[in-house]
Amino acid sequence: MTTSWNYVVGYRRISARIILRSCRSPFKPSLKYHSIIRNASESCNATMEYKLIGPEHYKQVLEHLRKSFFADEPLNKAAGLCQNGCSNPELEDHCLEALQDRMSLMAVDGKAAQEGKCKIAGVVLNGILRSGDTAKALEKLEESCDADFRKIFELLHRHNLKNNLFEHFNVDAMFDVRILSVDSGYRGQGIANELVRQSLAVAKKNGFRLLKADATGIFSQKIFRSHGFEVFAEQPYDKYTDADGKIILPVEAPHIKLQLLYKRICNEDKDREQAQ
Ligand code: ACO
Repeated sequence: MTTSWNYVVGYRRISARIILRSCRSPFKPSLKYHSIIRNASESCNATMEYKLIGPEHYKQVLEHLRKSFFADEPLNKAAGLCQNGCSNPELEDHCLEALQDRMSLMAVDGKAAQEGKCKIAGVVLNGILRSGDTAKALEKLEESCDADFRKIFELLHRHNLKNNLFEHFNVDAMFDVRILSVDSGYRGQGIANELVRQSLAVAKKNGFRLLKADATGIFSQKIFRSHGFEVFAEQPYDKYTDADGKIILPVEAPHIKLQLLYKRICNEDKDREQAQ
């Protein structure tokens, strides 16, 4: 089925063509649009194509993440998780798990695509987080032999368990914006902003009422807040210490804290969207 979809960017309405193949029930993500091509008149991102990530893209997505996220994300960097371009098996598994929920998106350089190449400029990996998943993940973490990986995910999991969004909002599942990553050669062009904006659309289409994100740096925090996410809880990195008072993850400035952010999708948003 081919349809056209109107949606809002900032205060402007633009049209995009979306090729929809099917749409099933909430929490079983099924929105299968091959590509969302932004209107060519959009300035910053004019040559980017935004697509849902399918299994055929996993290899390239992991290559992108090794280059752009594994070494660069503030917590990974503080823990010294891996060198630029290198792999980390447990982080790759974490990424693949999110990809399997089939709600992740990538920005592909349209110019390179015209030359027959697929160049990934950025990705957002979105997964379904169900009640009980984080406690299980923390238990599983005890089996990990990678001390650096453990440090990072202990902070994230414990922070989420302490600040329980499931209880607070009385939901069983939520849309988890897990990984946001843009290739260093494409940063500062609004790609992360657009990936988050389109993730909101995917969450809505799949019937989610609550989104969350663990934003680890000031830029990702700014991006989420600009899309209406609110801070639920935060953890300053210099206060996250071991028994001897030593900072566990010495995150470099300007990043100073972890933020757990959430966004509720209310019926009003849906009604407004349907009216447009
Ligand atoms: N310096 C100053 N401002 C910045 C910077 C920077 N280095 N990076 C982004 N911003 C600001 C922009 O000015 C923009 O603000 P505006 O909307 O007011 O103009 C906003 O942040 C969004 O900018 P984008 O261009 O959309 O962001 P970009 O495409 O460059 O991607 C990202 C930002 C994802 C943080 C990128 O730098 C990156 O991949 N970093 C490494 C991985 C990482 O830290 N990811 C986030 C971790 S949290 C998580 O994954 C859930």
